[in-house]
Amino acid sequence: MLLQGKFTLPFRSPIRIRTPITHHRIHKCSFAATKQSYAISDEELQSRGFILRRTTEDLNLDHLNSVFVAVGFPKRDTDKIKVALEHTDSLLWIEYETTKRPVAFARATGDGVFNAIIWDVVVDPTFQGVGLGKAVIERVVDELLEKGITNIALYSEPRVLGFYRPLGFVSDPDGIRGMVYSRKNKKR
Ligand SMILES: CC(C)(COP(=O)(O)OP(=O)(O)OC[C@H]1O[C@@H](n2cnc3c(N)ncnc32)[C@H](O)[C@@H]1OP(=O)(O)O)[C@@H](O)C(=O)NCCC(=O)NCCS
Repeated sequence: MLLQGKFTLPFRSPIRIRTPITHHRIHKCSFAATKQSYAISDEELQSRGFILRRTTEDLNLDHLNSVFVAVGFPKRDTDKIKVALEHTDSLLWIEYETTKRPVAFARATGDGVFNAIIWDVVVDPTFQGVGLGKAVIERVVDELLEKGITNIALYSEPRVLGFYRPLGFVSDPDGIRGMVYSRKNKKR
């Protein structure tokens, strides 16, 4: 596991490791996060060795891929990750000062004015449960809202629903259901 055993955690909670993602439901955000409402301030994060980063500068894609793999996402071609990031509108990652590695990440794609979808929400297992996931989502949502983008959606694995709900995301809002293209279900 990435970084295991090399340092002590700067927050309170025990380490929790999650299993791979298998199913998703569409979630839509109906809540306006504000900078005042951040659970952990930028300053507090920094004082605990976590640096917020909003560009891909200094982001080592192999290290990011390692975090994806550590949470159960499939290992991806870093060249493709690079292209995906080039087509990303909002991005936030947290660097752990001691190791200079990414320990939390989320990004959003969209049309820049109306709609956005949040992707690749991950926290390194060693750092889960200390508030980094919440810190990243609050700020990505806030950045989108500041741009006037209010239709914010994401896919959630069922056992992560409880993480997203307090952050303002609801399932099937007004009965609207998400659909994804499935080649195997397509009628010939
Ligand atoms: C889901 C994930 C991003 C959460 O990040 P995290 O840093 O561990 O979560 P936080 O410490 O910020 O937790 C914030 C709150 O959500 C709660 N929470 C975290 N994971 C939860 C879960 N799976 N179900 C319900 N609540 C959860 C925490 O208890 C905490 O509650 P509190 O604010 O009342 O104290 C992280 O566990 C992860 O990377 N998981 C593997 C990848 C994944 O599933 N990504 C989501 C793709 S759908």
